Amino acid sequence: MRTLQQSTYEVLICADAAELAREAARRFAELADIFVNDIGRFAVALSGGSTPKAMFHILADKPFADALPWRSIFFFWGDERCVPPDHADSNYRMANETLLSKVAIPRENIFRIPAEDEDHERAAASYSETLQKFFAEQKPHFDLVFLGMGADGHTASLFPGTAALHANDRIVVANYVEKLQSWRVTLTAETINRARNIIFLVAGEDKASALKEVIEGPRNSEKYPSQLIEPFHGSLLWMVDEAAASLLK
Ligand code: 6PG
Repeated sequence: MRTLQQSTYEVLICADAAELAREAARRFAELADIFVNDIGRFAVALSGGSTPKAMFHILADKPFADALPWRSIFFFWGDERCVPPDHADSNYRMANETLLSKVAIPRENIFRIPAEDEDHERAAASYSETLQKFFAEQKPHFDLVFLGMGADGHTASLFPGTAALHANDRIVVANYVEKLQSWRVTLTAETINRARNIIFLVAGEDKASALKEVIEGPRNSEKYPSQLIEPFHGSLLWMVDEAAASLLK
């Protein structure tokens, strides 16, 4: 494992996707303990994708499953596909099957995005309201947001060239993604950037070129929306594997 420390972010390079998932689980547990001891709760937004799935499996097992303060951990999502919660593409379903249904977490601590609503704007408005209520009318500020990054530089459901990239007056938005010919519901970059901790999990050679552009390239967030992620006060950690990091300087 190697670390590159920059002034506004840190890059942690793991040998492979398996080590990345183990290290991400360890960091999740560490932050959960810190926040629960400090403020009595830990509010985390999850992402879809293959790397978090591997981390969820680890968290659902010993020692984490027994040791974590699940009653004080609150789960949200950074984005959701517009499908019912039992659909194979649902980010909620993936997290529920691999982690949430396997640990002692009260169901009322789980706040999924109601993205099955055919009125996508209404789904986004409803989730904004859920977040406003949870954060007691303050602007939503997660203790941790996990993000993935696509090979095209998207993160959450902030895809290149889409309207959601410019919706920073909103907490959550519905976003039509032309190349997928489908709708998504996503936190805006503004909401993500209010988090205390943001962790990107990025694995695989197909991400290497986008990772280089996002981290080392010129600013072009229209093309590489992951560049919009710059926490206002919190920390930004890129956890990547050697394959994804292969083009970094
Ligand atoms: C989703 C996501 C998305 C994902 C990236 C990376 O719902 O698809 O939240 O932003 O995190 O596409 O996914 P992988 O880790 O599977 O490559």
